[in-house]
Amino acid sequence: MLILDLSDNQKSSMKTGGILLAGGKGTRLYPNTKNVNKHLLPIYDKPMIYYSLSILLLAKIKDITIICNPEDEPDYKNLLGDGEEFGIKITYSKQDSPEGIPHAINTALAKSNYERFMVVLGDNFLYGREFFNSLENTFYKSQDISIYYQKVRNPELYGVIKWKDNKIEDLIEKPKMFISNDAVIGLYIFDKEFSDHFQKLKKSKRGEFEIIDIIKEYKLTNTVTNYVGRGTAWFDMGSSEDFFNSSQFVKTIQDRQGLLVCSPHEISYRNEYIDIKNLKNYMKSINGSEYSLNLSRSIG
Ligand code: G1P
Repeated sequence: MLILDLSDNQKSSMKTGGILLAGGKGTRLYPNTKNVNKHLLPIYDKPMIYYSLSILLLAKIKDITIICNPEDEPDYKNLLGDGEEFGIKITYSKQDSPEGIPHAINTALAKSNYERFMVVLGDNFLYGREFFNSLENTFYKSQDISIYYQKVRNPELYGVIKWKDNKIEDLIEKPKMFISNDAVIGLYIFDKEFSDHFQKLKKSKRGEFEIIDIIKEYKLTNTVTNYVGRGTAWFDMGSSEDFFNSSQFVKTIQDRQGLLVCSPHEISYRNEYIDIKNLKNYMKSINGSEYSLNLSRSIG
């Protein structure tokens, strides 16, 4: 991996940011998602979008663009506002038609033209301290395009890596035949070439632009594949069973430790994006909720 020690000047001259994908119709979860977007539904004690937002905050990204369906924008704005509550900047970008992940990213870029950016799919859950330390470094100290993968028992549900001589040879979306157990997780780092590559993409058989196709446009030899080890938990929260399993996981850890899992408020406070006064004001505004009580316990 090409590691550059970028000076603060260089860092600030490049426009960096995060793109959080919170669109989609969530049809697999109907009728739950008929009136409410999937990313607003609770995973145990907090909305699903708090978990993906936490990934970007833990990577120390303060400029975030949320891409959503036009009809859901008021709900997201109601929940997250302009980001002031977290000491960050949140911009909203509307995807008018569901044409796949790269199309959503390209729509977000038209609004916030980041030169280096991290993309997180709003239904992905990640938890593990060591992983987040390396994530921040990969984002700020290298120039590479990065993807992340973890072993799963059901690779047919994901984008999967095909290896040859320990090097990535191909990426296959939801393979019908066994390729490997290495699933690409919904977290990617791209650069300003993205939109040029997007222009060259064609829709897949299922009528969408595919994320793995744009990674291939970048050339697989130029892509760093980061292994997410077993010390880090990854869930994709797209089905009723995933909702249940990830909620159970969060409950188990929180009950045991008395500390919140993926609270964007706590992370913002620890990152010093907001101070104790801001945090206490927020807790007062939701006084009486379990989340507020647990937040005050978490910050000690
Ligand atoms: C998407 C991507 C897939 C990736 C997965 C991770 O799949 O297309 O490559 O492995 O997210 O969550 P989807 O959730 O749209 O089925």
